[in-house]
Amino acid sequence: MEKINRILEHDLFNVYLSEISRIEEKEREFCHHDLIHFLDVARIAMILNLEEGIYVDKVLVYAAALLHDIGKHMEYKQQIPHEQASAILAPRILRDCGFEEPEVRLIVQAVAGHRSVHLAEAPTLSGIIYRADKLSRPCFSCAAADQCNWSDEKKNHALKY
Ligand SMILES: [Fe+2]
Ligand SMILES: [Fe+2]
Repeated sequence: MEKINRILEHDLFNVYLSEISRIEEKEREFCHHDLIHFLDVARIAMILNLEEGIYVDKVLVYAAALLHDIGKHMEYKQQIPHEQASAILAPRILRDCGFEEPEVRLIVQAVAGHRSVHLAEAPTLSGIIYRADKLSRPCFSCAAADQCNWSDEKKNHALKY
């Protein structure tokens, strides 16, 4: 997990994380895009990875989960869809942290696809990141459910992971 710990210490990763937190503290009561969310996604994605017998390398799963929302501040400030913004910001961090080009490509593909519904059931890194992201939100105990833009169908009404 050395490369993952390098991401956690990377200056740009932390700058983007603080910028997202600064904006969300003022403007968003629910579903923050913070380190807790990133780790929830990483760990649920690992459960799915093992349960479904996909067996993607753990380092790729954690890297994609840590970076999947890292461009959220660009969505708030420049209206760039955050999966695209995150896919733009992720490669520099990944290369700095020692990831090889084929790994960068796989991780960035999963980051860019984490809101693509056609990947919802894919038995791939992109598929488990998509599913883990949705499963991570505790809608069943959310005080801001009435302000949420998720449909009732999409919400997690019961705990699964
Ligand atoms: Fe997202
Ligand atoms: Fe997310």
